[in-house]
This record gives sequence, structure tokens and C-alpha cells, in this order.
Amino acid sequence: MLSAEDNEILTRVGPGTPMGNLLRRYWIPACLSAEIAEPDGPPVRVRLLGEDLVAFRDTDGRVGLLEESCPHRGASLFYGRNEECGLRCTYHGWKFDVTGQCVDQRSELRPFSQRIKTGSYPVHESGGIVWALLSAPLGGPAQTLTPFRDFGTESLPAPLATANKEVIYCNWVQSMDGDLDTAHISNLHQFDAIDGIPDDGTDEPGYPSGYQSMRFWRHDARALIEVEDTWHGFRYAGIRVTPNGHQHARITAYIFPASTIIAQIPFSTRQIFVVPADDYTTHRYNFTTQPPQNPRGYGGPVFFTYPTYPFEMMAQKGVVPRPYNRGNDYLIDRDAQKGVSYSGIRDFRSQDAMATETAGPIYDRTREHLGSTDVALIRMHRLLLRCAKALAAGEDEVTLPALAGDFRSIRGAEKILEEGEDWRVLGTNDDPVVQEALKAAEDDDR
Ligand code: FES
Ligand SMILES: [Fe+2]
Repeated sequence: MLSAEDNEILTRVGPGTPMGNLLRRYWIPACLSAEIAEPDGPPVRVRLLGEDLVAFRDTDGRVGLLEESCPHRGASLFYGRNEECGLRCTYHGWKFDVTGQCVDQRSELRPFSQRIKTGSYPVHESGGIVWALLSAPLGGPAQTLTPFRDFGTESLPAPLATANKEVIYCNWVQSMDGDLDTAHISNLHQFDAIDGIPDDGTDEPGYPSGYQSMRFWRHDARALIEVEDTWHGFRYAGIRVTPNGHQHARITAYIFPASTIIAQIPFSTRQIFVVPADDYTTHRYNFTTQPPQNPRGYGGPVFFTYPTYPFEMMAQKGVVPRPYNRGNDYLIDRDAQKGVSYSGIRDFRSQDAMATETAGPIYDRTREHLGSTDVALIRMHRLLLRCAKALAAGEDEVTLPALAGDFRSIRGAEKILEEGEDWRVLGTNDDPVVQEALKAAEDDDR
């Protein structure tokens, strides 16, 4: 449970709020590169931390992220003409380059464009995402720039860079809470056919098949949660007992302030970054950071019919559609709920959306009753609150976690533990299966 005051601090991200100021210290996704793929193509609206912006790619391929409102008399630059290295407002023809500098005033008798600069933010494209740093207030003084954090995408070959974006209609912390909550997979994401999966011999110390992992989620709903604090935030394990009596660990990494790498067999580097569009709307980016590394095909594909996200319905440009939503009760199928799936909702991500969105636009955490399943998200709330308050109190910013470091060494992981094996090693550079994969990648490069 949080006090009403702490819940406000935790969830509100607009300009001048403690959490908004904290998030503005970090580079965050603004939009997908694919949304503004074409030079001189249509600009897109970008709502980010409660601010209304517009992104566009100019004639030379450079990306601009400007205040949406034209500094002349406020018309929206979303309707502007993207032409000849600038975005031109169609009301009176003022034109702005990617830095926000006004470069033309075609209707003025005595142009003064050199004195007009509209609000703009620094951007950096990496891994199919346009990242932005909102540390300086629009039009305000430039502040010390935080270095861009390379999660691995800087050296990722372009064809391997895949990123998508999903819109979630609730506060960003609710979405983060779901990503740091391994316990819910034993309930929300269950379906009855898992009972028919036979033991294929991988329910023993080592790496189970993907099928067996699902059996374990279903078999033991009482995961033991353990957390290890790290330089980038923390990693945590959900430890379940398997049907054969072994310890199965799923390890997820939290990268401060709003990113996770979720467990996968044998380890994972695919990353999630949650960005508040505003206090009530969240953009959840899912992106590749490193070439796929799975030396022996551990886990393997699951050739089993179960509810997956309808990727075949993914819209062009990587923006994931939301056919199941609160407006249609996520198309819950009450018959399916009695004999097919635990939730009766079609796919995993819609199940997640149901759980997080229906807690309300901003969940009132003075009313929650937390238990043993909630240890990891409690740690996240505390860390965020501590940092937001320290920043508001004027303490030195070096206290902020995860501003720099080897982000490529952060991984999720999943394994059935050997006798005496410590889950904390899994997925780190000290894990033999990681070393094997890194060596294989090195050999491939030669
Ligand atoms: S309002 Fe944009 S040019 Fe006048
Ligand atoms: Fe989930």
C-alpha cells in the first residue's frame, strides 16, 4: 500500500512533477522509426510525458521532434507541409528545421525568423526507435545532456532491428507492475490444454522445453519471489517446484526507470520499455537489442496450440492494434473461461491489458493489499520514489541508477536449477550458456 501522496509522486509525469523530472533524465522512446520512415513523409503526433509534440523526417533523413503548437499563433504543426528540409505551418507558412529554428516566414513583410526558435528535443535513432531526451523544458535553457544508453542496438545490424509499440490505456506504473509480476502467469495466462502436455524428459535440472515450462507455471501457482539489487535496478526470480520436484527459476531484469527483460529459455535480451504518453496512456515498446543467441535451440519453438498475440494482425509501421479492449470487454468468452482458458480472453497481451487497464486510469494504491507475489514491484516503486524525491530535494544526480554501464550484459533467464545452483548467476556473463553463446557469435564474426 502507498500513501495517496506517494501514489501521486509515483504516477504523475507531466512537466515539473518529481517523477516527470526523473524520467526526463533518461533517453526514452518517442516513436518508431517506421512511423516516419519516408523523408518528407507525413509527420506524426507524439504525446510524451504529457507534452504534445510532432515528429518528422526531413528531406535529408534527419528527424525533428518539435512542439506541436506553432510559435506564431498556435496552429498544429501536425498539419504542416514537410518539404525542403523543414516543416512548414500551413496557417501562414512559417517553416522550422529539425532543431526548431524558424527558417522562413513567407507571409511576413519584414521576416524575423532568425529570432524564432520553437521548442525541440534532441533525438537519436537506434534499433528502429526514435529516442528523445526531454531534460530541458521546451524553449527553456539547455541542460547537461545525459548520454544515450546503448542497450545493444547501436551495433545491431539494421535487418535484425525489430521494434513494435503497443498502446495501453492506463498509467505507466500499472503496465510496469504487470511486467514485474511473474506470479500472474500461473493464473491469467493459463489454459486447460496444458494439462495434456506429457513429460518429455526435460523436467530435470537443466533447460526444459518450452512445453514443460508451461506445465511448471500451471503446476505451481505459489512462486517464491527473490530479488537481487543490481547497478541497473534489480533482477528477480520466480521459483516454482516442478511436477518432478525440481526448482524452476524464471529471472527477469529491471532496468531503471522503466524497462524490463523478461525471462526466457535459456536467456533473453529482448527488451521492453514503457513510456508514459501522459498520466493515463502508456506506450509499451518491445525491441531487439542483440542478435538472437540460443546456441543449442534450448526451449525450442512451442508447436502447441495456445493463445498468442495475433501478430498476423500487427499493423504496418509496428504499431500493434488493440482489437480486444475495455470498450468491448476484451471480447471475453464465458464458455472458453469454463473449458479453454482461465481468463476467457483471446491472447496473452489482451489478458495483460484487461488486468492492468481495469484497475483504473491511475490505480489508487491506498486501496491495495500486497502479498508475497508483489515483492519485485514493491522494490521498483520504492526505488522510483526514492530517486524522484532525492532529485526534487536537489540531491546530486549521481545517485541515480543505470545512467551508464554495460547494458548488453543484462539478461533475463530461465532454467531448472542444479543442486545448489544460484539463480543469480543465470543470464549473467558468468553463466556458461551465455559464454557459449558469446563465443559462438564471435566465431561467426570471424
Ligand atoms: S500559426 Fe503557424 S504560421 Fe501562423
Ligand atoms: Fe502477462
